[in-house]
Amino acid sequence: MAKGLDVGTMNILSAQQEGNETVFVQQRNSFVEIEYSDMAEEMLSRSDVLHIRKDDKVYVVGDDALNFANIFNKETRRPMKHGILSADEKSAIPMMKLIIEQVVGSPEFPNEKCYFSTPADPIDSDLSTLYHQKTIQSFLDEMGYDAEPINEGMSVIYSDLADNDFTGLGISFGAGMTNVCLAYYAVPVMKFSVARGGDWIDEQAATATGTPVDKVTSIKEDDFELDFETDVGGVEGALSIYYENLLDYVIENIAKEVDEEDVEEGLDVPVVVTGGTSMPDGFTKLFERHLEEADIPFSISGVHEVDEAMYSVARGGLVAARSDEEDRGGNDTVDEEEEAEAAAE
Ligand SMILES: Nc1ncnc2c1ncn2[C@@H]1O[C@H](COP(=O)(O)OP(=O)(O)O)[C@@H](O)[C@H]1O
Ligand SMILES: [Mg+2]
Repeated sequence: MAKGLDVGTMNILSAQQEGNETVFVQQRNSFVEIEYSDMAEEMLSRSDVLHIRKDDKVYVVGDDALNFANIFNKETRRPMKHGILSADEKSAIPMMKLIIEQVVGSPEFPNEKCYFSTPADPIDSDLSTLYHQKTIQSFLDEMGYDAEPINEGMSVIYSDLADNDFTGLGISFGAGMTNVCLAYYAVPVMKFSVARGGDWIDEQAATATGTPVDKVTSIKEDDFELDFETDVGGVEGALSIYYENLLDYVIENIAKEVDEEDVEEGLDVPVVVTGGTSMPDGFTKLFERHLEEADIPFSISGVHEVDEAMYSVARGGLVAARSDEEDRGGNDTVDEEEEAEAAAE
């Protein structure tokens, strides 16, 4: 067994293989602080709400944070910002630890491999990802895993470009960041991130239209489409403008970062776009159109979206972790292992 873990600014997900199926566990990367009270006590004891009590405060963590925030009229808080642990959130570490423990569970045996996603250093801010990466690694190692970081863009390539010999451009459009990786036969030749993603779109559209940011987020996630036909002057119109701006910004940085010397002449690769921010209808088409117009030193055979955009990064981590465990365990192929397990049952 082996596990993959996607540590995202908005969502944390694990992936593991059960027979022929990949099973995902997901939690929202958010929490709310409420006063300890009889009502809180009763609500918490009746359910399996993920929480920590500290003196007269209770922290409700993960998916339930939003419900409790609404009931107790509080705001949710987020342990991560722009793809890494938030320096502004003093409670970030215990909250992240609890969410990760719940999502990934205990290892099945000591030193089970767990590949967790980590962003590339952003090229547009001086944030460093090292402290974040080492902290997540120490949570997992303490739990008994043998944890390895995997670049988030590379994870997309493991998940969605296996059919193309792990060659192509993988892009993960998340909440806090966008991560880009170009790989050639599973070797990354270029990787970077920008500290912009869905959160940035929401903040810009909120400011432009004078709408609360949570409202903008829910409009965007509901049934927003990138068709540029509706709602000029409204929230959807503003969302479209900032979506397009984010795409151009990412493409501009791809052009800047790819070194002509790194790419073989005549290189022609597919692009995979994934992550929550890639989900609106029209996104892939729009990205493809803008990419065609850009001046980049290799050609693109097509832009592909994936069926389950939320799952790519966790799945890619799992693919990497399984392949690592196979290497460690000798030359058994996965199929042989599965057959042996089936025979033993
Ligand atoms: N259906 C949707 N349409 C548009 N955006 C969405 C949708 N679902 C989620 N999102 C956005 O995707 C982002 C979360 O995606 P995710 O890949 O989980 O990010 P992260 O890895 O940074 O946590 C958020 O900005 C969220 O608002
Ligand atoms: Mg993610």
